[in-house]
Amino acid sequence: YCHRHTIHGGSPRRTVSSASKHQQKKGSGWKKPIVGTVAVSLFIIAGGLGWLYVSQDEFVTEVFVRQDEFLDGTKFVQVPCSEDYENFKRFKGCTPQRCGRAVTDAVISREEAGRMLRYLFVSFVSQLMPKSHGDSELKGNLLFFFFCPPNLSSLRQRIQEEIARTFGLDASRLFLTKPTFFSRMNNTDAKTIHDEYWHPHVDKVTYGSFDYTSLLYLSDYGVDFGGGRFVFMDGSHNRTMEPRAGRVSFFSSGSENLHRVEKVSWGTRFAITVSFTCDPTHAISDPTLT
Ligand SMILES: *[C@@H]1O[C@H](CO)[C@@H](O)[C@H](O)[C@H]1NC(C)=O
Ligand SMILES: *[C@@H]1O[C@H](CO)[C@@H](O)[C@H](O)[C@H]1NC(C)=O
Ligand SMILES: *[C@@H]1O[C@H](CO)[C@@H](O)[C@H](O)[C@H]1NC(C)=O
Repeated sequence: YCHRHTIHGGSPRRTVSSASKHQQKKGSGWKKPIVGTVAVSLFIIAGGLGWLYVSQDEFVTEVFVRQDEFLDGTKFVQVPCSEDYENFKRFKGCTPQRCGRAVTDAVISREEAGRMLRYLFVSFVSQLMPKSHGDSELKGNLLFFFFCPPNLSSLRQRIQEEIARTFGLDASRLFLTKPTFFSRMNNTDAKTIHDEYWHPHVDKVTYGSFDYTSLLYLSDYGVDFGGGRFVFMDGSHNRTMEPRAGRVSFFSSGSENLHRVEKVSWGTRFAITVSFTCDPTHAISDPTLT
């Protein structure tokens, strides 16, 4: 009786009160068997969950980093470089010699990510407001005053330095490139194939100029949205990266980092893609927020 209710949950409170009723009626002799049964069922449940966890880990998906973890350093995993870089001009001190993927929560704070999201949201709303000439400067000043725009150059620079440090590059040989963009994903159907972020792709194949891709997440997986995990597809393994506000993930852009983003099932996932090239002819200057 107790065993069944413990496993299937139903109403745990009722189980406890009826157990104590039994205790009152039959005396303390009941205590030991009940405790024993509960312990055995917990053991069975834990074993089952453990088995599920291990088998999932081994055959399907491995979590690279969880949303509720805080990485105060950079977690880096090296993977062998693909041959994609051979098809492009090589740049000393920048073109990947060492490939891999990394993630850190220590470069951009959650507070900065929150500020960025609020600013993007407010500037987006203000763009929808009807324009009468002359007030756009005023509007810009008001936005600036009340929403304290994050310093994009500083964000870009810190990400760039962390990429250079992790991959052993000269930071001054990396350049911001196009497209660097803000993405907003929800569970409504994509309008164009370009919006279908859930297809596996390789950044260097899609955008020849990319050498290092970075993502700055502005919302939290499991809190602000469901689905939407970033997945590295390694043949025998899928390795998931769970977005967390302020988290920066970056990786070399070749086929060694084939990836996709799971479909978002609820809520909205906000992120910024910041891409870097080694080729100065593809460099762009920092975007400005107005
Ligand atoms: C990885 O994910 C893809 C897409 O969901 C799936 O088709 C594939 O079977 C997965 N691979 C493994 C090893 O689980
Ligand atoms: C933004 O950051 C850059 C680099 O850290 C710095 O040179 C610049 O003065 C900052 N701009 C503002 C408006 O604070
Ligand atoms: C989902 O995203 C699309 C495209 O960004 C947007 O047009 C739509 O309003 C969003 N839907 C919701 C419910 O936020």
